[in-house]
Amino acid sequence: MNDIKIFSPATVANVSCGFDVLGFCLDTIGDEMVIRKTDKKGIRITKIEGYDLPFETEKNVAGVSALALYNEAKPYCGFEIEIYKNIKPGSGVGSSSASAVGSVYGINELLGRPYNKTQLTNFAMKGEALASQCEHADNIAPAIFGGFTLVKSVSPLEIIELPTPKDLFAVIIHPQIEIKTSEARAILPKKIELKDAITQWSNVGSLVHALHTSNYDLLSRSLTDVVVEPFRSQLIPHFGTVRNAALENGALGCGISGSGPSIFSLCYGNDNAQNVAKAIKNVYTETGIPFEVYISEINTEGIKILNQ
Ligand code: HSE
Repeated sequence: MNDIKIFSPATVANVSCGFDVLGFCLDTIGDEMVIRKTDKKGIRITKIEGYDLPFETEKNVAGVSALALYNEAKPYCGFEIEIYKNIKPGSGVGSSSASAVGSVYGINELLGRPYNKTQLTNFAMKGEALASQCEHADNIAPAIFGGFTLVKSVSPLEIIELPTPKDLFAVIIHPQIEIKTSEARAILPKKIELKDAITQWSNVGSLVHALHTSNYDLLSRSLTDVVVEPFRSQLIPHFGTVRNAALENGALGCGISGSGPSIFSLCYGNDNAQNVAKAIKNVYTETGIPFEVYISEINTEGIKILNQ
């Protein structure tokens, strides 16, 4: 096998209460990438379509993660990477992660899978760090493993796969503004109140239990963020109105997707997701800010090969 085409999915990190540890994988939004073996050694980005991103390997998220794997594997060949970007950078649905994950996943396949999913997550984190100036795996892990994941620890890296209740749907609204993850991290406090920490870890625990037991009511009552959302919501126009509209129309929960500006809602079933999407669209149509709305099942498979 000399080349491979890949679908690298968008993801929702944090999932309200789980800043930097929880994430889930989306089905209908993602990038495509082609990875090709070459006789010439090294990693080259040969094509980027969709968005204006650097071609220099060391400045490109996909290039940096690929290099991390390449320098460790020391293969006899090189690789070319083509990126067909559908996920807008700075959208909050794991654009940089999709790029970082796609290159390491593709190269690993072409090398005969020498590395497992946790090792691939580790390589991809090097690329993610270029974009957000911090190594975090809460977008990368769900993109690689699929479904919901919990990052138990970054060093040493330990990922826990969580079950996905079968009737969960996600609605994403993406206001067409850009928020850089590094900037959305810079506004966060270094210390938090003990009472807020108690609320937050109680919610993370109950959310994990709700996923294991398909308890939608508990899941709904766990999707609260008292630590990060109060700061970041100020960066997202009409966040409160969108959240109210989603909850009034029956969403189980609604919060900032990753570092924003996208906002995610989790819904019980497709009908509820359609209603929530409609209500959110109405809110944003009135603002005059351009936006996209997506409805997605939870993608339990994660990144996948499109052809070989
Ligand atoms: N956990 C990260 C953050 C995700 O919220 O900064 C970035 O997409």
